[in-house]
Amino acid sequence: MTEPANMEDRKKVIFSAIQPSGTITLGNYLGALKNWINLQDEFDCIYALADLHTITVRQDPASFRRNTLEAYALLLACGIDPKKSIFFVQSHVPTHAQMAWILDCYTQFGELQRMTQFKDKSAKHPENVNAGLFTYPPLMAADILLYQADLVPVGIDQKQHLELTRTIAERFNGIYGQTFTVPDAYIPKQGAKIMSLQDPTKKMSKSDENTNAYIAMLDKPEDIMRKFKRAVTDSEACVRYAEGKDGVNNLMSIYSCVTGKTYEQIENEFAGKGYGEFKAAVGEAVVEHLRPIRERFDDYMKNRDYLEQCWTEGAEKAYSISIRTLRKAMKKIGFLPMKR
Ligand code: AMP
Ligand code: TRP
Repeated sequence: MTEPANMEDRKKVIFSAIQPSGTITLGNYLGALKNWINLQDEFDCIYALADLHTITVRQDPASFRRNTLEAYALLLACGIDPKKSIFFVQSHVPTHAQMAWILDCYTQFGELQRMTQFKDKSAKHPENVNAGLFTYPPLMAADILLYQADLVPVGIDQKQHLELTRTIAERFNGIYGQTFTVPDAYIPKQGAKIMSLQDPTKKMSKSDENTNAYIAMLDKPEDIMRKFKRAVTDSEACVRYAEGKDGVNNLMSIYSCVTGKTYEQIENEFAGKGYGEFKAAVGEAVVEHLRPIRERFDDYMKNRDYLEQCWTEGAEKAYSISIRTLRKAMKKIGFLPMKR
């Protein structure tokens, strides 16, 4: 049997989100955002700032507002194109919180207890192990399932949440019949995990107390150069990708992501040269890669009206898609429908 033409033509739907909690780092960009940008031509992409997730950790109101605004402008500056993709702020679209409640009731306590991120974050903030931190994954599942997403580009650290999303979707479909598309994680091979510049066995994270450990997307060029010059390497003094050379591997991976060069090309380029020269080259390549992003960011930040128009339109489009899925799920569960 042949499928109807519109089924064959349907582009795959991509959904992803990032929390607007503090500075966005080079790790976020190379591990996630750069990939988002590249997917826009091939797929129907829906991207969000997951600000509801952010309040699982206490936020200062003024900084939270500023971080969200800056993250929106920065993602546009990185190349999210609101003409091609839907780009919105999670809290502007009420269906997310509604669907999250529903999915809470199809998620087991034990499943949430096993989540590594929950364990890590509750150890880090023992004074505030709130229920939202615990039910973070069903909200994330709601984000994804509301849009019937096929693929979810995330860094490897989010894989466990993605697997739980699949479990929840399959469970719901198993009870009520096909309701949600079961999504696949889409994890980039390169850049999947950018490591700390100070301890290359740990991932680069904006919450690192040592600001030399990460590159913020809006760091000044001189800070970027300084951080790379101080990056931890090893004592072999040979630029090659090999096991046990975490620091050098990480720098090679960053250099490769921003220049498009292969590891072999990089090894040849720096054959016989010291780490000083290599680190400066990585720093310069990153500075040049980020320069136009920084310039576009500054322009967007001067144009609040445009930003507001973008996130309003994004929320309207997101709402009109997500409300259909919410209604469908509610109908299947047996909620009394309203005449609309
Ligand atoms: P987070 O900063 O934890 O909110 O992560 C936002 C997105 O960036 C997620 O898709 C993460 O998997 C990704 N990400 C965060 N840190 C890194 C890193 N050091 N390397 C690669 N991807 C990362
Ligand atoms: N939890 C993700 C993170 O911290 C952010 C996120 C929220 C997300 N909702 C999502 C990612 C839906 C992918 C899909 O990185």
